[in-house]
Amino acid sequence: MPKPLNVGMIGYGFMGRAHSNAYAQVNHFFDLEYRPVLKAACARSADKAKAFADQWGYESVETDWRKLVARKDIDLIDICVPNNLHAEIAAAAAQNGKMILCEKPLAMNSAEGKKMVEAVEKAKVPNMVWYNYRRVPAVTFAKKLIDEGRLGKVFHYRAKFLQDWTISADLPQGGTALWRLDVAAAGSGVTGDLLAHCIDTALWLNGPIANVSAMTETFVKERKHNLTGKVEKVGIDDACTFMGRFTNGSLALFESTRYARGHKALYTFEINGEHASIFWDLHDLHRLQYFDHRDQGVVRGWRTVHVTDGDHPYMGKWWVPGLQIGYEASFVHQVADFLDGVAARKPAQPTFRDAYRTQLVLDAILDSAKGQKWVKVKEA
Ligand SMILES: NC(=O)c1ccc[n+]([C@@H]2O[C@H](COP(=O)([O-])OP(=O)(O)OC[C@H]3O[C@@H](n4cnc5c(N)ncnc54)[C@H](O)[C@@H]3O)[C@@H](O)[C@H]2O)c1
Repeated sequence: MPKPLNVGMIGYGFMGRAHSNAYAQVNHFFDLEYRPVLKAACARSADKAKAFADQWGYESVETDWRKLVARKDIDLIDICVPNNLHAEIAAAAAQNGKMILCEKPLAMNSAEGKKMVEAVEKAKVPNMVWYNYRRVPAVTFAKKLIDEGRLGKVFHYRAKFLQDWTISADLPQGGTALWRLDVAAAGSGVTGDLLAHCIDTALWLNGPIANVSAMTETFVKERKHNLTGKVEKVGIDDACTFMGRFTNGSLALFESTRYARGHKALYTFEINGEHASIFWDLHDLHRLQYFDHRDQGVVRGWRTVHVTDGDHPYMGKWWVPGLQIGYEASFVHQVADFLDGVAARKPAQPTFRDAYRTQLVLDAILDSAKGQKWVKVKEA
């Protein structure tokens, strides 16, 4: 029988739900030494926390995360709240000896991220950051193809993450559901929110980024603030584009925006190597497009691999070949890998330290955009 591992969940929003679903599902599909138990859900409003706990099967409720992280019956703290709360909760959870799963971006900036890394490493607690796209089977499969050397030397890495939900100038900033527009809660705009994902995937697939040259734009300069009721300056970046160099010599071109009418969550990346190229699109997440120049000339062309076969990453755990899985499965895979890591005492990635490297790239991007200059990414 798998050993129980008691989860204390903080936040009941988008990610609170995605992670709760993953904890509930993981032992149905993966054979693991541990079994997450939904022990307590925490939110400021007792009624909302109770409603969430009842819907997802949490045994108890807290309204103050400080109480939750001090509870003796909690093994793991899951941080699913706005970015400005990650550091303080993680430090307290580490001090209490809890395992910590933290949502991305790790921190508001790299200085804060560094302290978080120090806190979990000092406490020697298992830790991981929810950059879940690494565990979309087609993306994990891309990593396998790259590691096998199929692409050869990489020349280009191109990524974008496009949305369109903040175009209206009447949209307020701040508070429930709109904290992403409030720089005090989010730290930055699309850079920390969307590009952070693209950068984590890129560092994993293609290695470190050496330097960047970026531009950002805030298209709507003032918005009513939901918490103060006043019209206030908007401090986040609505769009960010950057180019850069990876240390392996390849060139980076990244774009993200919330002003691309018609696009809801268009995360794509394309990697062009000496022998082959790959392309992935979140809207079609179970497919990986692959072109191999070494194919026989008359049939050479882009092929679409339907990543659903038993020997594709994670897929042997699900249904039968040809049947695809969805977005939510990436979180199930991440929990499975984390629990395997706990059992084997080998940390699952990305750890806080890995996510700190992304934070350093984010800082370089924002510095570059502000100073209109190339910026070297600091070493972790
Ligand atoms: N991995 C991903 O793909 C992904 C996707 C979305 C969000 N995120 C990250 O997850 C985190 C949460 O985002 P979300 O979309 O779930 O937000 P959300 O707005 O849907 O939910 C935030 C939750 O935090 C709660 N909260 C706020 N302050 C609190 C406090 N002091 N104590 C307890 N609870 C508090 C809110 O009540 C709400 O339940 C952010 O860091 C975000 O960047 C990651």
